[in-house]
Amino acid sequence: MKILFYDTKAYDKESFEKQVAAFPEIELDFLESDLEPHTARLAKGYDAVCAFVSSDIGTETIEVLNQAGIKLILLRCAGFNNVDITKCREYGIRVLRVPGYSPEAVAEHAMALALAANRHLHKAYVKVRENDFSLNGLMGFNFYQKVAGIVGTGKIGAAMARICHGFGMKVIAYDVYQNPDLDFVEYVSFDELLAKSDLISLHCPLMDNTYHLINRETIAKMKDGVILVNTSRGGLVKTDDLIEGIRARKFFAVGLDVYEEETKNVFEDRSAEIMEHSTTARLLSFPNVMITSHQGFFTEEALAAISQTTLENAMTFLRGEESGNEVK
Ligand code: NAI
Repeated sequence: MKILFYDTKAYDKESFEKQVAAFPEIELDFLESDLEPHTARLAKGYDAVCAFVSSDIGTETIEVLNQAGIKLILLRCAGFNNVDITKCREYGIRVLRVPGYSPEAVAEHAMALALAANRHLHKAYVKVRENDFSLNGLMGFNFYQKVAGIVGTGKIGAAMARICHGFGMKVIAYDVYQNPDLDFVEYVSFDELLAKSDLISLHCPLMDNTYHLINRETIAKMKDGVILVNTSRGGLVKTDDLIEGIRARKFFAVGLDVYEEETKNVFEDRSAEIMEHSTTARLLSFPNVMITSHQGFFTEEALAAISQTTLENAMTFLRGEESGNEVK
């Protein structure tokens, strides 16, 4: 089985090459370019493509992949909001993903962002390097005995809930389904979560009904001085409304690992480029905002689990078996 691997970074190649040795049926070719309509035609002659979070797997790309004879899309990530699933179904292209590789990797990063934004670590680091040992502007607040509001208590949200619980926080949550493993969590309505939380962390998927979940109206319902963390998907937060809220001093701090404009930036070095328009740059101009570039998943354990599951997904397809990892 020949798989064309898009958007390859050195660490992907290293991780996949290490594991593919155990799968003699699989041959991998690596491309640096990401998957989009123009690069999709390179898949001719392959059995499958392997794509990632910022790949454009919309209608046009699927059309080209279908013409190239591709019958399998291997997503080496959990989210699938960038895939036109209806079109895939129409062409009989199966889409397999990695639903959970290391929920703790993302949850730990969410807490890292919350702590760093709260205690202004990004500012403190620079200040000390400049021999400025004053504490002006660095005041934070204790998480101990504060309320953590978790939106979406699936694998990552549950891990974040456990971390917050370990910090001595009261943990409340909103989800369309309750997670029976979280007996220390109180489930509340979304509005109640907004009103009561000192820290809100987003862990639900991006779907039509969660698009711009955080907007002017929902921000207005939040407690003043709340910390908002988003490690899920950028589209959950309406950036312009977030900026308005930050200007209105609604937020104590904001930590974002994902944001609406990220697609072109994710995993690229654009430091020599002149940004013509960027709401992200506007966000970064605020002292209480900390942004990282979709690195929540980026731990050794998570990368190993991603490559292992992706290759197992390919084998499942090869054997013509059903898979719980299939996006339907
Ligand atoms: P999951 O599927 O285990 O959990 C998602 C939870 O959200 C489920 O409990 C579901 O019932 C809930 N949910 C669905 N609709 C909702 C709604 N309208 N309101 C509230 N909750 C709702 O997914 P998992 O593995 O926990 O991942 C969550 C998200 O994290 C993914 O969708 C992905 O976008 C993001 N992610 C980010 C990464 C990063 O590197 N920053 C890496 C991996 C995932």
